[in-house]
Amino acid sequence: MDWGMQNRLSRIIKPDTGRTVMLAVDHGYFLGPTTGLEKPGDVVRPLLPYADTLMPTRGVLRSCVDASADVPICLRVSGGTSILGDLANEGITVSMEDAIRLNVAAVALSVFVGSALEKQSLLSLAKLVDEGTQYGIPVLAVTAVGKDMVRDSRYIGLACRISAELGAAVVKTYYCDGFEKVVNDCPVPIVIAGGKKISEQDALILASNGIKSGAVGVDMGRNIFQSENPVAMIQAVRAVVHNDEAPDKAYDMYQTLAAEGSDKTPEPA
Ligand code: 5RP
Repeated sequence: MDWGMQNRLSRIIKPDTGRTVMLAVDHGYFLGPTTGLEKPGDVVRPLLPYADTLMPTRGVLRSCVDASADVPICLRVSGGTSILGDLANEGITVSMEDAIRLNVAAVALSVFVGSALEKQSLLSLAKLVDEGTQYGIPVLAVTAVGKDMVRDSRYIGLACRISAELGAAVVKTYYCDGFEKVVNDCPVPIVIAGGKKISEQDALILASNGIKSGAVGVDMGRNIFQSENPVAMIQAVRAVVHNDEAPDKAYDMYQTLAAEGSDKTPEPA
């Protein structure tokens, strides 16, 4: 792997722990004004000091994130469909040149293995990897799961391995029973997707299970920004991911921080 790509990956997966807490705020690209993300700038600002990487769309990055923010960006570059259409019918929405202009550390695209459009999404992944390789930009493949697909280790393992085979540098996928095998069979690092909002306790258990099974971190959105106290929640997730904190201890931490009112925006240094 060339120096530039390695350097960008090291900004995302922190070398001191080999782990990462990515904050996903790209939901609007197919969901529109997602609950909790109506004002992305206001949501993201207090969370940024605790995010190892931010995953937005180009539009939100440009219009809502301070360009002086010291956070690596994993830019969502696939889309072209909405929740009202066929979600698998995505294409590449940002040129590599514009991604570079935005100084990204990585680009992200969804693949829809098992859908009627799997070939289209996998060829888009391969094309993006070719373009990224030219400039040292790693690609994160998001293994999206269609409505009719079972999220078991056989299916998730298939989607992760194919993504890695086509050149993804990191894979984002859903945790499932037997996840150790999914990790073992995938030659590149895996981050766990948060998925729909669940209780804070359950989300911390999910993150912990993923880490214990070998994931290098999380790429979590709704379970952070839809939390009662997002700033407390992201810190609790960090404790699980970077310090191997037990989920019950991390939940205690969440409650303590929430009671202290940790959702106040930190004063600039
Ligand atoms: C869709 C996505 C989402 O846009 C988002 O990144 C998911 O994050 P979360 O499930 O944690 O809310 O990846 O496939």
